[in-house]
Amino acid sequence: MKAVQYQAYGDYNQNRVVDLPEPQAADGEVLVDMKAFGINPLDNTFRSGHFYAATPKNLPRIGGQTGVGIVAESKSADFAVGERVFVTGRGFGLVADGTWREYVAAPAAGLAKVPDHVDDAHAAAFLAGAGYLTAYLVLTEFTQFKEGQTVLAPGIGGAVGMEAVQLAKVFGASKAISTASTTAKAEQAKAAGHEHVIDLSRESMKDGVMRITDGKGVDVVIDGVSGKLTKDSVGSLAQGGLLAVVGYAGGREAEVDVTDIIWKAATIRGFTMRLFTPEKLGAAQAKLREYLAEKKLQPTVAKKFPLDQAPDAVRYLIEARPFGRVVMTA
Ligand SMILES: NC(=O)c1ccc[n+]([C@@H]2O[C@H](COP(=O)([O-])OP(=O)(O)OC[C@H]3O[C@@H](n4cnc5c(N)ncnc54)[C@H](OP(=O)(O)O)[C@@H]3O)[C@@H](O)[C@H]2O)c1
Repeated sequence: MKAVQYQAYGDYNQNRVVDLPEPQAADGEVLVDMKAFGINPLDNTFRSGHFYAATPKNLPRIGGQTGVGIVAESKSADFAVGERVFVTGRGFGLVADGTWREYVAAPAAGLAKVPDHVDDAHAAAFLAGAGYLTAYLVLTEFTQFKEGQTVLAPGIGGAVGMEAVQLAKVFGASKAISTASTTAKAEQAKAAGHEHVIDLSRESMKDGVMRITDGKGVDVVIDGVSGKLTKDSVGSLAQGGLLAVVGYAGGREAEVDVTDIIWKAATIRGFTMRLFTPEKLGAAQAKLREYLAEKKLQPTVAKKFPLDQAPDAVRYLIEARPFGRVVMTA
């Protein structure tokens, strides 16, 4: 079977196509014939070797944390041959071999049925960047988000920005705001139905937020960009607001005006999936799948690549600033 594996840490080209034996499903596992694969920025971080578990002992490794396929063999009562399933698994693509291969044998606990109306690529996009899951956990666990409240999630093209804005609307947000760094991307976002996208080439994020919220600021910021935007993320908060720091697509170092933290009585909290039990994460994913089945969420595919073009696909996600997820197909 074809698989994308890296044998050393390094640049995109370390993702090599290799030929490996098909895996066998053990008791309680399901063998899945993979059809589409998600790419997450973390897949790039990990293959680059910039991660706590990036040790020589952890090589070689098949990448990929998520994907979609058809059950080829089932040793679990929960899944039958022929069903279309989401595929994830503990440590996949990080400390265990991941989804980027023709066949995956995964514990049934990591699988779930895909709603019929969602095609393989969009199903892969639904899980790829974990933006829906991140936003769900911030809005339910870091704060009890209420209808009528407001959210800012910068970076409309990214998983965190786009998916947090969609989910905030499902939760009844009165304003769900994001940003784009170019006018072209802001217009693309508006054409896709995103009402409040601040064009950072024309105004600052804070000015945009204050314009849209009549000077009040937002109740929650879900920030996957950080860097130079962090100062405005804190400055965009309403009184008593919460900033969840989830990522650093725009840089690791940031400056803030501490008076924004003091006078707004702001909360700033770091977000990691490691805060949550497998049960909590499973319940959140189940709720999100319900929203997907009800057509309340719209996973967005920016570009599809064949699996054997994994180096180009990952580079495209990291460098091309796409509008939506980048997925690979079998
Ligand atoms: N802690 C967690 O559990 C968790 C969960 C999910 C994601 N993350 C992390 O969160 C970050 C974002 O994830 P993602 O999937 O949304 O990433 P992404 O697809 O790389 O998107 C990031 C967005 O950031 C914007 N951006 C990049 N550099 C910028 C800059 N200098 N100034 C302003 N905007 C900038 C881009 O928008 P423009 O094209 O408009 O510039 C892009 O759309 C990543 O670091 C990811 O690893 C963490």
